[in-house]
Formats: sequence, C-alpha cells, structure tokens
Amino acid sequence: MSTALSQKLDAVSGNASGGHRVNPGELDLSHKVILYLDGISVSFDGFKALNDLSLTIDAGELRAIIGPNGAGKTTMMDVITGKTRPDSGTAFFGQSLDLTRMNEPEIAHAGIGRKFQKPTIFEQLTVFENLELAMKTDKRVWKSLFAQLASDERDRVADTLQRIRLVDEADRLAGLLSHGQKQWLEIGMLLMQEPRLLLLDEPVAGMTDEETERTAELFVSLAGKHSLVVVEHDMAFVEALGGKVTVLHEGAVLAEGDLATVQNDARVIEVYLGR
Ligand SMILES: Nc1ncnc2c1ncn2[C@@H]1O[C@H](COP(=O)(O)OP(=O)(O)OP(=O)(O)O)[C@@H](O)[C@H]1O
Ligand SMILES: [Mg+2]
Repeated sequence: MSTALSQKLDAVSGNASGGHRVNPGELDLSHKVILYLDGISVSFDGFKALNDLSLTIDAGELRAIIGPNGAGKTTMMDVITGKTRPDSGTAFFGQSLDLTRMNEPEIAHAGIGRKFQKPTIFEQLTVFENLELAMKTDKRVWKSLFAQLASDERDRVADTLQRIRLVDEADRLAGLLSHGQKQWLEIGMLLMQEPRLLLLDEPVAGMTDEETERTAELFVSLAGKHSLVVVEHDMAFVEALGGKVTVLHEGAVLAEGDLATVQNDARVIEVYLGR
C-alpha cells in the first residue's frame, strides 16, 4: 500500500498514534453552537496572521467567509483542524471539546472534516471505490473493504453518489472526471465520514459557472444536518449560499451579516470589494 494511501486510511479511521479517542456522539450542541472561537491569535515570525479572532457558528449553519488575500481565512481553518496551534485564545467544538487540546486525527475523528483546494482523491480507483475507502469505519470493516460491503454501507455510498451527482460515473476511474466532478468526489469522501462540521476552502475555484451553481445547491442541501464553513472569493457563489457572511481582514472579523449588509459596509468596500 502506498504511504499516501495508508496515511489517508489512518486519518479516516482515526488510527493515529497517541491521544484519546473522542466519540462524535459526545458532541454537545445543547447551546446550539457548533464552533466557538474567542480571542484566537496566531503569529508567524512576529506577523499576526490571526489577531484576536472571535467567531461563532451555530449548529446546522451554512457560513461564508470572505476577505482579501492574506486575511487569515486558511489559517483559521488550520487552527480549527489542529494543524496550527494558536498562540492564545479559545476554540471549542460544541460545548465541551477543546480543539486547542486535540491533535489533527482526534479533531477529524470528533467530526470536523476539511476540504483543501486541491482534491486528494485516488485517481487510479473508481468513484465508487473512492467513496468506499472514505467510509467512516473501524478496523474490522477495513478488513472487509475489498470483500463485500454490508448493504447499509452500499446504501450510504449510493446516497452520496446521488448527492454529489456522480451516479452515472460510479464505475469510472476518478482520474477521468472533470475538475468539478473531482471536487464533488472529494466532498463526497468527506461526507462518507459523517462530519458534523465541514470546512471548505475555496471549493469552487476553477469550476465552470454550471458546476459552481450545482455546488451551491449541494451545500444548501447539506446545511441543517451538517454545519458548513465555506471560504470563497466568488460573490455569485456566496450569494447563492444565502447564509450569513463573515468578512475577515488582517486576522480578525471586520463585518458580519447577510451578504447585502456586508456588501454595503464602507470598510468592507474599502479593503475588499471595492478593489
Ligand atoms: N506557515 C506560515 N508561515 C508564515 N506565514 C504564514 C504561514 N501561513 C500563513 N502565513 C501568512 O499569514 C497570512 C494569512 O494567510 P492565510 O493563508 O491564512 O490567508 P487567506 O485569507 O487564506 O488568503 P487567500 O485568500 O490568499 O487564500 C498571510 O500573510 C500568509 O503569508
Ligand atoms: Mg487561503
């Protein structure tokens, strides 16, 4: 097995060394808040990529994050997923899971899924096999992966294929998909892990207008059951998402509200939209 593949399997199955396992069932949403960031700061060689950032995402919410290059959007996702440790501040997943005390596999296992800009699908496998591999399972099921999938697992793959509009491509090699379809497959792989919170960094970059519209529909359909935080520069896409918008600037929140409100904010126009 290739190293990349085995690392991905380990990440998916929470099979990393050390640390305690957090059962996603423990996620406490009693206050209807799924993500709580307060006073988060991150410095790189004295430069503050995040500067006292505070942000709250409600359970089931679909939030768009916009802001100029270098505003700290990706760094914020790095903090939430445990890739970067904040110098200071508080980060909670639900009421009780302190993200600053968890490592990356623990955070993934607790139910935070992240999509990077470049798809990391397995091009030499079929679409169906990619989804199969991504399924959130324990070791026992890994053994049976290449044997028979249980029928409820097949149903889950079928449901996901439908959601990501790849039913007709199920038996195609993933490497033969269009750019947009590869992005959808990667989103489908994330969904197979049943994340409670999905972080998506510029998911429609490079997509056609048609694919962009389909992606907005997909995200709207996922909200409620999942919570989504979507970083994007494409304003037509952000409008189609229809949710609350947060504008980041110099590592902190500059404005927040519906798209029309932030679009009319003089400071937002000055630092971002007006340029
Ligand atoms: N590992 C790192 N080391 C040093 N500086 C970094 C590192 N990661 C990010 N930065 C800096 O922190 C700032 C915020 O970067 P970040 O990638 O979070 O911005 P962004 O809002 O995602 O921008 P973009 O819209 O271009 O993706 C930038 O000035 C960037 O150069
Ligand atoms: Mg970025």
